[in-house]
Amino acid sequence: MDVISVIRTKRDRGRLSDEQIDWVIDAYTRGVVADEQMSALAMAVLLNGMDRAEIARWTAAMINSGERMDFSRLARPTADKHSTGGVGDKITLPLAPVVAACGAAVPQLSGRGLGHTGGTLDKLESIPGWRASLSNEEMFGVLDDVGAVICAAGDGLAPADKKLYALRDVTGTVESIPLIASSIMSKKIAEGTGALVLDVKVGSGAFMKSLDDARELATTMVGLGTDHGVRTVALLTDMSVPLGLTAGNALEVRESLEVLAGGGPPDVVELTVALAREMLDAAGLRDADPAKALADGSAMDVWRRMVIAQGGDPEAELPVAREKHVLVAPESGTLTALDAYAVGVAAWRLGAGRARKEDAVQAGAGVELHAKPGDAVVAGQPLLTLHTDTPEKFGYAEEALTGAFTVTEGASSAFAGTPIVLDRIS
Ligand code: URA
Repeated sequence: MDVISVIRTKRDRGRLSDEQIDWVIDAYTRGVVADEQMSALAMAVLLNGMDRAEIARWTAAMINSGERMDFSRLARPTADKHSTGGVGDKITLPLAPVVAACGAAVPQLSGRGLGHTGGTLDKLESIPGWRASLSNEEMFGVLDDVGAVICAAGDGLAPADKKLYALRDVTGTVESIPLIASSIMSKKIAEGTGALVLDVKVGSGAFMKSLDDARELATTMVGLGTDHGVRTVALLTDMSVPLGLTAGNALEVRESLEVLAGGGPPDVVELTVALAREMLDAAGLRDADPAKALADGSAMDVWRRMVIAQGGDPEAELPVAREKHVLVAPESGTLTALDAYAVGVAAWRLGAGRARKEDAVQAGAGVELHAKPGDAVVAGQPLLTLHTDTPEKFGYAEEALTGAFTVTEGASSAFAGTPIVLDRIS
């Protein structure tokens, strides 16, 4: 087997054989295939696609590149959620404790920010003392004791994806349905969850911009999960507008705490409860009531125990950015558009995300929204507050927001209440 013939097969729109796929994934993981060769192959896959059988084999090869976890010793059924990535998507933070409070075990292996989208681990690391890296034994212990754990995947889990994911991020090869589906599902299947709910984001702030592409991605992932014995359901959810009123690490933790305290923005609450119901249903816990777990404080109790178990102090003050800059409504009327991608890029530029893999993120940086589409606004009122420790970035962030919001004269209810859940695939 040689890598150049594998690249040429896909470059010339051919099908990769099972042997070619098994070999190239293994050889790349072992460092025999070089990054530049794998990036040529990833680009050929992005441009020419893979059929269902190729995607299934590619996913299996990535699972087989590392270890598989086994939660069958746990007394509770396991359920996990994975989002394809969005702006202001802090849902994992309230969701994991809610689902645990309702009786399931939630082994939530999460990632860091990718491009303009935020990462759950970066958000949680704004809590003083909180640790993302746990050994498999520690992870199992927290899960067994608390019912929920949110941590980084260990090095042994789908190492092929770890390398390929970092490579795709810097070679313009993220937005490929076969590569996204195999990346997500190899990790989730190797993790060993019994049930999985996928939150497939659609819109400007998502990697899938159209409903058709999101549906194809969701169908592919549900098929892969089901074939591997994982009960898998996908919700297609709106990402044309940021979720909630914040995008940025500590800002999003603060907003998640509001949700866990029984308040918080309605779209964050609605999506948390919808995903929790799906997870509990897939785990066979149909009588549980996630809305009640938010209202009665039981989800907040799990949150506190989960943070403490990972070294964090749930009572500690969260970091606040040193500088703020307010953008105001240019005229009175109704806010009719607020682009998720632009807000994500602005938060990233303010320091909430990384320009290079090794960069540190700023805990306090990000964007706070004071209105959402459908809201009435008055000329001069604050629309967005930008937060950063590096005020020289304000201009750069403002540039990203040029044309990102529209205020239309007069009252208009047409823009309020866009449904958050657009479709369900099982
Ligand atoms: N999340 C992943 O884990 N992988 C991708 O390719 C995209 C989003």
